[in-house]
Amino acid sequence: MTRPRAHKVREPRAMPSGAGRTLVVHAAELLTLRGAPAPRTREAASDVGLVEDGAVLLEGERIVDVGPSRDVIARNPRPGRTIDATGKVVLPGFVDAHTHAIFAGSREHEVEWKAEGLSYAEIASKGGGILHTVRMTREADEDALAATGAERLARMRAAGATTIEVKSGYGLRIEAELKILRAATRAGTLAGVDVVPTFLGAHAVPPEFEGRADAYVDVLIREGIPAVAREGLAAFCDVFLEAGYFTRDQAVRLLEAGHTSGLRPKVHADELSDAGGAALAAELGATSADHLLHVSDAGIEALAKAAVVGVLLPATSLASRLPFADGRRLVAAGVPVALGTDFNPNCWCESMQLAIALACHHNGLTSAQAIVASTINAAHAIGRAHEVGSLEAGKLADVLVLDVPSYRHLGYRLGGNAVERVVRRGRVVDAR
Ligand code: NIG
Ligand code: FE
Repeated sequence: MTRPRAHKVREPRAMPSGAGRTLVVHAAELLTLRGAPAPRTREAASDVGLVEDGAVLLEGERIVDVGPSRDVIARNPRPGRTIDATGKVVLPGFVDAHTHAIFAGSREHEVEWKAEGLSYAEIASKGGGILHTVRMTREADEDALAATGAERLARMRAAGATTIEVKSGYGLRIEAELKILRAATRAGTLAGVDVVPTFLGAHAVPPEFEGRADAYVDVLIREGIPAVAREGLAAFCDVFLEAGYFTRDQAVRLLEAGHTSGLRPKVHADELSDAGGAALAAELGATSADHLLHVSDAGIEALAKAAVVGVLLPATSLASRLPFADGRRLVAAGVPVALGTDFNPNCWCESMQLAIALACHHNGLTSAQAIVASTINAAHAIGRAHEVGSLEAGKLADVLVLDVPSYRHLGYRLGGNAVERVVRRGRVVDAR
């Protein structure tokens, strides 16, 4: 006899077909993030495009109408399935502009070393840090990397991220780097998030090339970049510009070669010291300069002038006990600011909500600025602003319903999950 089993599968009604229509209506605060098709700076960096009692209508994978509930209802007499957002906040899915989410193993033991007071550099010299993860990741096969990556991406989506940038960088030899990039795309498909992959072969100098970073960069240029471009495995090329990692000259050679092959430049800039990363990013017309803990005044000015997005990663400052980047100063200087979790084995942060709250408590951003930084500006930081980052007709229907009365609670609450529903490409994919 078959007895009905108590199981946790969601009701089918909560999973409408992507081809249907869904009206999210009566949001206490609908944050549209609408505006000019450029990264938001200065006053626009605080403009969340708030509509009180707002609605958004989704059809198939796309947004078809947005505005005050009254108007959207009047324009669309047969809206289809309805999600009542009374008393709640509705906004675009978060865009996580910087992660290293594909790797094998984990580094929980390093937290004990941190408790003893060891720095990031000391942990690395003890055999921990990036090279520990490289050893594990080289041994893992692509299927395993895709499967563990998908589990992480799924949890990041449940916390609100619907588009996630993912870097390679724990292979540090060509085949292993390609394996990670392939796994990243597969993990995105498995988890149901949009992954934007970045080639970070220059994350550290591999042990085989110790003392010969130039020769390693030659290999990345001669074999890595062409292979990545040939297979279409990444949209961006990134480099860790820092003493003990890669020099300015090496970064220039690499990013120029990447650019020639269609990989847009990004820079891990001024994280542990002022190494001129921001100025270099501006000079090369990079899409983003990331970290910026130690950026100089000249670096800030250069970023603002070249409209390079500054990606702030406050969870890394928390995890590595580093200073927090001065987001307030960046916004005041006219730099477009974005946020990311920097999810990596040193900084196991799955939540853009935590990144937002940290940015408000420690980087000097307001809630509104942190939300702009986590949606439309983050989309610009990874070349996806034409598809995601705001609730505007024609964009992908990636929408969050938050069980909080005001968007200011995002900057306020630390470590919880305010996301009640995640709609990705018109389908409710997470609900509680
Ligand atoms: O973005 N800065 C370099 N890379 C990572 C950390 C990687 C690791 O420790 O495994 C970062 O913080
Ligand atoms: Fe990083």
